[in-house]
Amino acid sequence: MKGARPLPAKELPIVILDGFAPTSQRLVLDRRGSTVWEIESERGKYAAKLGYANESSEGIQPWTALAPAREGHILNMLNEEPTAFGEWEEGTWNVQPWREGPSLWQLWEGCRVPGSRMEPHQSVALACAEVIAELHGKGWTHSDIQPAHFVVGPERTHLIDLALARGGRVSAGFDFPFRGCLVHYEAPEISRSVLETGWAEPTQASDVYAFGASLLISATGVRAVEYPDDAPRPVQRQAIVDGRHRDVTVSGPMRSLVREMLRYDPKDRPTIYEVGKALS
Ligand SMILES: Nc1ncnc2c1ncn2[C@@H]1O[C@H](COP(=O)(O)OP(=O)(O)OP(=O)(O)O)[C@@H](O)[C@H]1O
Ligand SMILES: [Mg+2]
Repeated sequence: MKGARPLPAKELPIVILDGFAPTSQRLVLDRRGSTVWEIESERGKYAAKLGYANESSEGIQPWTALAPAREGHILNMLNEEPTAFGEWEEGTWNVQPWREGPSLWQLWEGCRVPGSRMEPHQSVALACAEVIAELHGKGWTHSDIQPAHFVVGPERTHLIDLALARGGRVSAGFDFPFRGCLVHYEAPEISRSVLETGWAEPTQASDVYAFGASLLISATGVRAVEYPDDAPRPVQRQAIVDGRHRDVTVSGPMRSLVREMLRYDPKDRPTIYEVGKALS
């Protein structure tokens, strides 16, 4: 594995081309040390993820190179369908089952149109709560819950991107400490710890907070905490720690529930099972 890659990966590495012989491939995402393709082969549809070291405002981020292997290992501990993973020249890769369907963010787009009278469907929120409950029931935390990570399929909802999940033993070779997630969904105790020490211990309560923040932003378009869009990450985190919380404006019966999920003190938040019960 090399250091920072100057250009994002635009081609699938030989190891994936040889191993999966894709009949078609579509680039889904290409940013910050990660590239995702949707590939189709005789065996079915897969998401192929490539990780490589990433240079950001906070310096070189070597962990993005390890993330696909870490995720592949975790998916194999949690799922019956196998996920292949390994190393390529710039980092690690995985090829996991493709999950069909819109994300929570896409599904509730209509609710965010100004003047819209479309209400966020509680049944969708319940389906999302159920996949989190399944994970928590196995003793895991997802640690990176955000609206794009719920794929709401016709049969079932999937929670994708388990690269930061905690709960079982991960080989030291591709493990790395949790240094926070997408700040909009970070619970105050996570932001505080990242500011003070550079890392944090994600918990099931911080997952519940992130889920509450995901429901709020998907339904209304606003973040749980107010800060300028272009504020540097430490400033955003400080705003979360200082508790500059917006009022929860989700319409309908979910309003009070989301408010409870976004409680400042993790002890005051409902468990995911209580969330599921309230939604059903
Ligand atoms: N198994 C999958 N099935 C369907 N789509 C997927 C799958 N895995 C990833 N994707 C798509 O690729 C996007 C990025 O994937 P993922 O979140 O796992 O990567 P990432 O490198 O962590 O990106 P980000 O920094 O945005 O979190 C997802 O939002 C989704 O659109
Ligand atoms: Mg992700």
